[in-house]
Amino acid sequence: MKVTPLCSLFGSCGGCKYQDISYEEELSIKEKALRDLLTGTIEGLDPLVFEPLVPSPELYYYRNRLDLTFRRDREGRWRMGFMLENTHKLEDVTVCPIARKEINDFLPKLREEATVKAVAGEYRNANLTVRVGEEGKVAWGGIGRRSLRMDPENYFSVTIRGRRIFYSLDTFFQANLSILGKVADTISAGSVWTPETVFLDLYSGVGLFGLALADLAKEVVMIESGYDSVRLAKHNIAYHKLEHVKVFEGQVEKLLPEILSALRGRHCVALIDPPRSGLYPSAIQTLNQSDGISALFYLSCSPESLSRDLASLKDRWKIERIIPFDFFPRTRHLETLVCLGRL
Ligand SMILES: C[S@@+](CC[C@H](N)C(=O)[O-])C[C@H]1O[C@@H](n2cnc3c(N)ncnc32)[C@H](O)[C@@H]1O
Repeated sequence: MKVTPLCSLFGSCGGCKYQDISYEEELSIKEKALRDLLTGTIEGLDPLVFEPLVPSPELYYYRNRLDLTFRRDREGRWRMGFMLENTHKLEDVTVCPIARKEINDFLPKLREEATVKAVAGEYRNANLTVRVGEEGKVAWGGIGRRSLRMDPENYFSVTIRGRRIFYSLDTFFQANLSILGKVADTISAGSVWTPETVFLDLYSGVGLFGLALADLAKEVVMIESGYDSVRLAKHNIAYHKLEHVKVFEGQVEKLLPEILSALRGRHCVALIDPPRSGLYPSAIQTLNQSDGISALFYLSCSPESLSRDLASLKDRWKIERIIPFDFFPRTRHLETLVCLGRL
């Protein structure tokens, strides 16, 4: 059934794909596309492992971050908006119905403040990032060196499973805060946790899952390569005075073998949440070879790299559950949680 898109730029902006159909139809299209891709790539995949797509509690006004191009045109006017897909054309944006209301309300002020800053610094173009936390405070950056840096008193935050988690303009953070609790609850509900468990939060960012699930584990070990995210992870650990949680700065494929050998004999549960490109072959090799990890959760924002990686993991891991989560309603994107157990 066709519905009227909320956004006047729908069809040209390229950010949303499904504003013109009902949410039920969007969910079933996404669910089928994931099932077709994974069953087509992973030989022998049991169709019973697929679970229904978990809808987003918020269908519009959910994104806590917008990235906008800001530039001066030939006539000297300042333009602020999105680059149209596969073009060099800038579409001016005054409202984005998938961005949080606080961000939309802030856009006129953002244009004003960015203009003042760009003129003062003699910039002609910039990539602006504007973000908001659960408490509704908006901040932006992108003009000038270190303009995305924030002081701790200005960090954004969200509370997941009773624990406040801080993030900043210069760190990765999940775009849809409304669905994060459901993912953390699904991971926590598995029967894999024991009082002795070491939880490995790999590609941890600011420590969202390591912190939200810290009470389930005797020890939490996070690995994250981004300097700014590690800084926030340390802030989060210190804020909650969690002495059993540690973060290591570096690449999973480099640090994991050594960390696992130090944890030999311990009961480990790992969450991997890599960037869109998925896992390096050496990381897959480590996960396949390490008997210490008895349960693995793979959270992925790219069905394509997920299907490739699962095809390489499936001879050592049993794919037990595949649970899609609609982190990005109205867009073509889909997040997937896969629960794996040792074969
Ligand atoms: C999809 S994000 C997930 C972050 C976190 N789990 C969360 O939900 O907020 C991926 C994170 O992996 C980090 N990263 C990218 N490549 C990495 C690597 N090779 N080793 C460790 N971390 C990496 C990025 O900086 C980013 O913070």
